Amino acid sequence: MNAVEIKKDVYWVGVKDWNLKEFHGYTTPSGSTYNSYLIMDDKITLVDGVKHYMSAEHIARIKSLVDFSKISYVVVNHVEMDHSGNIPEIMKLAPQAKIITNTAGKQALEAHFDTTGWEYELVKTGDSVSIGRRTLAFMTTPMLHWPDSMMTYVKEDKLLLSNDGFGQHFACDALFVKDAPFDVVMDHAKSYYANILFPFGAQAEKALKTAGDLGLDIEMIAPSHGLIWSGKEEVGAILGKYCEWACGGNKGKAVIVYDSMWGATAAMAEAAMGVLQDAGIPVVKHCLSVKNVSEVMVDFLDAKYVLIGNPTLNNQLFPRVAGFVTYMKGLAPRNKVALAFGSYGWRPGVVKQIQAVYEELGWQTVEPFEEKYTPKSDVLEKFKERVKELIKL
Ligand code: FEO
Repeated sequence: MNAVEIKKDVYWVGVKDWNLKEFHGYTTPSGSTYNSYLIMDDKITLVDGVKHYMSAEHIARIKSLVDFSKISYVVVNHVEMDHSGNIPEIMKLAPQAKIITNTAGKQALEAHFDTTGWEYELVKTGDSVSIGRRTLAFMTTPMLHWPDSMMTYVKEDKLLLSNDGFGQHFACDALFVKDAPFDVVMDHAKSYYANILFPFGAQAEKALKTAGDLGLDIEMIAPSHGLIWSGKEEVGAILGKYCEWACGGNKGKAVIVYDSMWGATAAMAEAAMGVLQDAGIPVVKHCLSVKNVSEVMVDFLDAKYVLIGNPTLNNQLFPRVAGFVTYMKGLAPRNKVALAFGSYGWRPGVVKQIQAVYEELGWQTVEPFEEKYTPKSDVLEKFKERVKELIKL
């Protein structure tokens, strides 16, 4: 694939990682892209690098447009290595280039790489750098996704180079959202938010407010993963979704997540589902033996009720449940109402570990429910009463 002009003299020079199946614990069945942009102005500017193993392709794409000796600036919006992995190679090819980043970005680059001889122009929110006919304005967006994260706004093109923000782990032959099925792209954007940015809703809300305060007029959002949002309608749609996801609201939905060894916890999950359906509550049920944690987390974005079921194994949480609870705790969903349930054979009490996580996350809860071996019909009736208590909260 050649470099693609996305605005006059602004080129996509990124790479598509079709075979990526996993991104630090996030299952990515549709691969990903590491987008990088080259701005051909008086001071030629490269924005963001790519993962180290795709460096050759990235460099060839840049070379198809310009000799590296002509590059004046390399903007590092974020130092996580999917975007900075080949920055050392870039800097070897363009030692004259100055890196534009923020203080946290410089510190992170120095912590990752041998940065001897690199020169910096450090920026913060509200700062701008003229590159000729264009002005680059910067907005630091700490924790979207790391402390060093920032976005670059190309004022004359009304173009926001948003790095991780508004991205999707989605490789396809299209480069623009308008050339792909919109709902598919939005589903990838939702999954990306749920699995990458979920813990940082407050920071996302702040960034959206800052963009408003700075009066950024955005006609195109070009993230560093996935497809580019172009036109006011698409830009408005993804900004609206980020407002919705960041505020931690919900749609009154319930999500049941469980695993089962001999059917006991599965029977309880099914009983809970019946109660929720009878109450008219939209519900989804995920068995961790067939669903990956990344798929499950998407449903946490708009869920009010969370019910996690565990089959005790060797007096411990079942490994897939333990793994899910750890992953979910790190993503720290807010404002949930929760019940822990499960079965045991030898010793009760393991579901209290799930309850403890709920409490750490500040969720409302009802008392956990456990049964020895197989729950008979009278036990299932008692369990249903517990689920009814939950939905009264
Ligand atoms: Fe796409 Fe936080 O890196």
